[in-house]
Amino acid sequence: MDLLQKIKENAKKLNKRIVLPEGLEERTLKAADILLAEGICRVILLGSPEKIKEEAEKHGLNHISKAELVDPLKHEKKEEYANLLYELRKHKGLTKEEAVKFAENPLYLATLMIKNGDADGEVAGAQNATGDVLRPAFQIVKTLPGISVVSGAFIMILKDKGFGEDGLMVLADCAVHPNPTASELAEIAVATGKTTRAIAGFEPRIAMLSFSTKGSAKHEMVDKVVKATELAKEMAPDLQIDGEMQSDAAIVEAIGKKKAPDSKIAGRANVLVFPTLETGNIAYKLVQRIAHAEAVGPILQGMAAPINDLSRGCSVSDIVHLVAITCNQAQ
Ligand code: ACO
Repeated sequence: MDLLQKIKENAKKLNKRIVLPEGLEERTLKAADILLAEGICRVILLGSPEKIKEEAEKHGLNHISKAELVDPLKHEKKEEYANLLYELRKHKGLTKEEAVKFAENPLYLATLMIKNGDADGEVAGAQNATGDVLRPAFQIVKTLPGISVVSGAFIMILKDKGFGEDGLMVLADCAVHPNPTASELAEIAVATGKTTRAIAGFEPRIAMLSFSTKGSAKHEMVDKVVKATELAKEMAPDLQIDGEMQSDAAIVEAIGKKKAPDSKIAGRANVLVFPTLETGNIAYKLVQRIAHAEAVGPILQGMAAPINDLSRGCSVSDIVHLVAITCNQAQ
């Protein structure tokens, strides 16, 4: 069974409630139909129930009848959620009236449902930009205790099984935090190690990437990665982490041996942590296109409940996979 199949099979056992705020978006509706048909999870769709039913009928999506449909403009918990939002954000100057308005926004409503215990996770972003999906999540669901920064990992399924863990690699942060400090980068490395164990299902060997390998270049950007490596090792002594190293030293055995002969990770890394979002985002897209790799994610890590953001170019099966991953994260 391949990794995605395993993730789906595990999701089925968990029977989680996943809220999809873009309930009228065509790919989302089609994905919801598959999720319900295969019994991967329970589905909550936000949007006008009449319009959702109309769309489902138009596309012949017979399983949508099993979804819970919630109208953001009129539902029984509207006032409760607006009050919850007001209590959470009044210290930031949010007024009662603004809270009522925001709670009608499906992206806010989804996170309020999670906060209130009415849903276990959320997937959105087929229609909305990353920032609009993440902002309510940051404001309402917030990060896990002891974590200050949310980041996004991709599981790359490579055609060449010679790299990573039999062709699987986890890359982060490719989606969220533009310019992490050394301690934030260390947190990202530790979170990525945990995601690798929990979702990709293998023991991580983490390389902290830079344009320098073990002191070959001197620059403040290199110093940041060196510091982050030290901190990550302190934060998670049980994880195998090494750096700073260049990407070739991280993944090509002969180069790893030459440039970092004492490293247990060099040449064998299956998790790559990038120094900035710029490098991570550019790298994963290049690997995806040039190496024809499948990019599964971004899997958001560090959030107090699983919320995942799709690329607006996503396919129906991307949505199904990300929902299944979200169920696994909610475990
Ligand atoms: N982790 C946890 N909390 C965060 C993070 C983070 N990484 N970033 C911001 N926050 C919190 C802030 O602390 C703040 O909380 P508060 O209001 O309770 O004080 C709240 O979120 C809003 O903070 P802002 O700084 O105002 O956040 P802003 O909306 O400006 O930016 C965002 C956050 C949208 C995630 C921004 O960092 C961003 O745009 N990142 C890039 C996302 C992106 O475009 N990725 C590439 C595309 S994705 C892809 O290709 C797969």
